[in-house]
Amino acid sequence: MLKIVVLVSGGGTNLQAILDRAAAGSLGDVKITCVISNNRGVKALDRAEQAGIPHRVVSPKDYPDREAFNEALLAAVESAEPDLVVLAGFLVAIPPAMVQAFPHRIINIHPSLIPAFCGKGYYGLKVHEAALRRGVRVTGATVHFVDEGTDTGPIILQKPVAVQQGDTPEILQRRVMEEAEWEILPEAIALIAAGAVSVEDGRVIIDRSLSGKEEK
Ligand code: GRF
Repeated sequence: MLKIVVLVSGGGTNLQAILDRAAAGSLGDVKITCVISNNRGVKALDRAEQAGIPHRVVSPKDYPDREAFNEALLAAVESAEPDLVVLAGFLVAIPPAMVQAFPHRIINIHPSLIPAFCGKGYYGLKVHEAALRRGVRVTGATVHFVDEGTDTGPIILQKPVAVQQGDTPEILQRRVMEEAEWEILPEAIALIAAGAVSVEDGRVIIDRSLSGKEEK
């Protein structure tokens, strides 16, 4: 069994995509042991509650400084004893100590085709505003392992999404979530749970023969 902790900050639609795939029986032998949010009162926590999953808040507002928050966040994650940490719309920088504690065991969903529109300052709607400003015809989403950089770890899965005439950042964000994020994040978890994902020389190798789903 793959035990996962899911870190969230807001709406939790990526968490919901994971929950829905688990309910459909196609996530594999996975157990979400805890959902942790850095914000109180967000819909992601309601989604965890409705799914009967333990959840808690670790908020920077409750600590005197960033260092104390980082230590509390790491302690909360470690107490859930995860095999994998999943950042699902989590908008807090992961402290180096956590990356070191979970090497190639933290994954993140980013709403662009990395290396485009990523790095410091590129999150949420800002990513889609930049894509529209640049005039790209194709954007998408990326699931990657988290390293000590920002959106710089080995890429696991990506999915393209067409930009359409008249797109606003909000419309584009929704399409990228629906057509890409909500598919590739659960898929990455299922592949990792099947033991199909490894990292060699900084690049991800996926052996789909282990996942029972051959490359399309
Ligand atoms: C969205 O901008 C998504 O692209 C990014 O995090 C934000 C909220 O996601 N990954 P969620 O609805 O909280 O999962």
